[in-house]
Amino acid sequence: METKKTAQKTTSKTVAKKAGKTPAKKDAAKQLKDLFEDSLKDIYWAEKALIKALPKMHKNATDKKLKAAIEKHFNETKVHVKRLEECFASIGKKAQAKKCDAMQGLLDEGKSIMEETEPGAVRDAGIVSASQKVEHYEIATYGSLAAYAKVLKEKDCLNNLLATLSEEKKCDALLTKIADTAINSKAK
Ligand SMILES: [Fe+2]
Ligand SMILES: [Fe+2]
Repeated sequence: METKKTAQKTTSKTVAKKAGKTPAKKDAAKQLKDLFEDSLKDIYWAEKALIKALPKMHKNATDKKLKAAIEKHFNETKVHVKRLEECFASIGKKAQAKKCDAMQGLLDEGKSIMEETEPGAVRDAGIVSASQKVEHYEIATYGSLAAYAKVLKEKDCLNNLLATLSEEKKCDALLTKIADTAINSKAK
């Protein structure tokens, strides 16, 4: 039997063997401010994609509370886009969207969940799950962006990012509550 120490050594050796450094692209970010700007472009694309996707989720949802939560967050998402535009302006850059593959994947998955479930409580449960995956992605992204803005001393951006982060967290919590109290047991 391998001792814990040997096992750890073997694992790190294997990882080192398999891993290769990813070569940087020509236009790769060199400083945190470049990474900050790139991430802003990414989430700007993601928020705009959500404005297109949320009405479809709303149409497919049946539960009244879920429908209301999606509508509320649709209106908040429009504000998230505006706040990002303010962020771009405050760092002296033009608002620019860059395709976010992660959000595209999450939205594709949401579409599949709707296709693969009967309308009603089961589809509602699927919509909650897909929406929460989106919210968690946004929470992670805005959390990182806020941390960058803090280090970069971009105070106006930071306030905007924190305001959006708080709304994403509240939306996630509301979805959990709706699923726990109304949807999941009905879908059983
Ligand atoms: Fe958002
Ligand atoms: Fe959101």
